[in-house]
Amino acid sequence: MNEYLRTPIREIISRFPQVGSLLEAHGIGCVPCSLGTCPLGDIVDIHGLAPEVELALMTAIGAIVAPGEAVVLSARPAASSPKKGFSPPMKTLVDEHRLILRLIALVPAVTASLDVHAEDDRQLVVAIVAFIRNYADRFHHAKEEDLLFARFDRESDILQVMYEDHANGRACVKAAVDALERRDPAGVTDNLIAYTEILKQHIRKEDEILYPWMDRKLSTRQVGELFSAFRKIDSAFSEEAGRYEAFVRSLEDKFASNDAEVA
Ligand SMILES: [Fe+2]
Ligand SMILES: [Fe+2]
Repeated sequence: MNEYLRTPIREIISRFPQVGSLLEAHGIGCVPCSLGTCPLGDIVDIHGLAPEVELALMTAIGAIVAPGEAVVLSARPAASSPKKGFSPPMKTLVDEHRLILRLIALVPAVTASLDVHAEDDRQLVVAIVAFIRNYADRFHHAKEEDLLFARFDRESDILQVMYEDHANGRACVKAAVDALERRDPAGVTDNLIAYTEILKQHIRKEDEILYPWMDRKLSTRQVGELFSAFRKIDSAFSEEAGRYEAFVRSLEDKFASNDAEVA
C-alpha cells in the first residue's frame, strides 16, 4: 500500500478506475485533472479530510489496490486538519476570482455576436484582453505567483499544475489577439472560449483545494506578511481595479439588456 501512496494518481486511476469514483464521492476531483501527477498520499493530505474520513477512504482504496494489506496513516499536524473560512489575504484572492468569473461568463455572448471587421467589436475584444492581461494576470496572478506560491515548494506537483494553467491561459489570450489581427473570427472565439474553460477549472481548484490547503499550512506570521504585501499592491492598483469592475458591470448591463430585447 505504501508504494501506492507515492504513485501518481493518474496511474492509479487508469489501473483501478473504482479509485477515481471513490475520490469523486469525497469531493476530490482528480479524474478530470489535466495533469494527474500528484501522488495519492499528497492528494488525500491536501484535501484536509477529517482523520476518520481519511482513514475510511484510505482503507477503501487499500481494499482495491492492495487487498489484505493493512493501511497505516502517518499522523498529521493538528493544524492540517480542521477546516475554517479563508484568511483575510486568501479572501481577497477569492473575491478577485468572482470578478474574473463574471467577465468569463460574458465571453460566450460577446463572441457569439462578434464581427471581426467591425471596429467596435474589435475594440471590445481588445478591452476584454486588457482586463485579462491587466486584472487577471498582472494583478491577480502576479500576487499568487510572486507572493503566495513563493511561500511553498514551487516544484511541487500541485503548484506545477497552477503555473501550467496560468501559462496555458496566457497562450490562449495571445492566440486570440493574433487571430484578431488577421481578422479570423473562429480563432478569436475558440481561443477566448478555451481561456474561459481553463480559468473556470483553475479557479475551482484554487478556491476548493489549493487555497484551503495553503491556509492550513501558513503560519499566523506568514498570513500577516501576505496581508500587508497584498494591501500595498491593492492600494496601488485600486483605481485601475475600480475601472475594471465598472467595465465588467457595463458589459453585464449591455448583454443583459440585449437578452431583455430578445425576450
Ligand atoms: Fe491562479
Ligand atoms: Fe487565482
